Amino acid sequence: MNYAGAMPAGKRSTSTGCWSVNGTSLEASCDVRRSLLDLLREDFGLSGTKKGCDRGECGACTVHLDGRPVLSCLMPAVMAEHHEITTIEAIGSEDELHPLQAAFVEHDALQCGFCTSGQIMSALAFLQRDAGGGAADVRAAMSGNLCRCGAYQQIRAAVASVGASRG
Ligand code: FES
Ligand code: FES
Repeated sequence: MNYAGAMPAGKRSTSTGCWSVNGTSLEASCDVRRSLLDLLREDFGLSGTKKGCDRGECGACTVHLDGRPVLSCLMPAVMAEHHEITTIEAIGSEDELHPLQAAFVEHDALQCGFCTSGQIMSALAFLQRDAGGGAADVRAAMSGNLCRCGAYQQIRAAVASVGASRG
C-alpha cells in the first residue's frame, strides 16, 4: 500500500523520528504515511528486505518487530518507532551464516532468491516460538511467504531440518 499517495501533497505531514534497527538508533524525516519497508530500504539503505507486491500478499518484506514477524509494506513507519526492528541484515554474516541460511543453501531452497530474506525472517520467528515443530506447523508458519520459483518443498525441508536439530 502506498500511504504517501493516500492524501493530497499539500496535506502531507512529515516529522523527524527515531527507529531502533538491528540494535542501532537511526533518525529520518518521515511522512506519516510512509511504509516501514520504504523507510528501511530507501532511507536506511537496508535493501535486504524486499518489496514484492507492496500490498501484503507475498511476505517478501517480512521483518521482525519486537521478535514478531510483520509485513513491513503494510506497516506505517511511525508505528514502528519505539519498537526493536530486526531485518535480514542482522541475521548471520557472509563469513558465518545463520543455521537457517546454511540450511537454505544445503537444501537448495532458493532459485532467484528474491523471496529468501522474507522466508528466513518468517522461519526464524517460527523456530523461536516453536522449535521442533512438525511438518504441518512448518507449512502453516510459512504459508504467508510466496515463492515464484516454486521452491516450497526445499524451503520447508530447510526449515524443518533446523527445527529438528533444535527440538
Ligand atoms: S511486499 Fe509486503 S507482502 Fe509483498
Ligand atoms: S527463490 Fe525465487 S521467488 Fe523464491
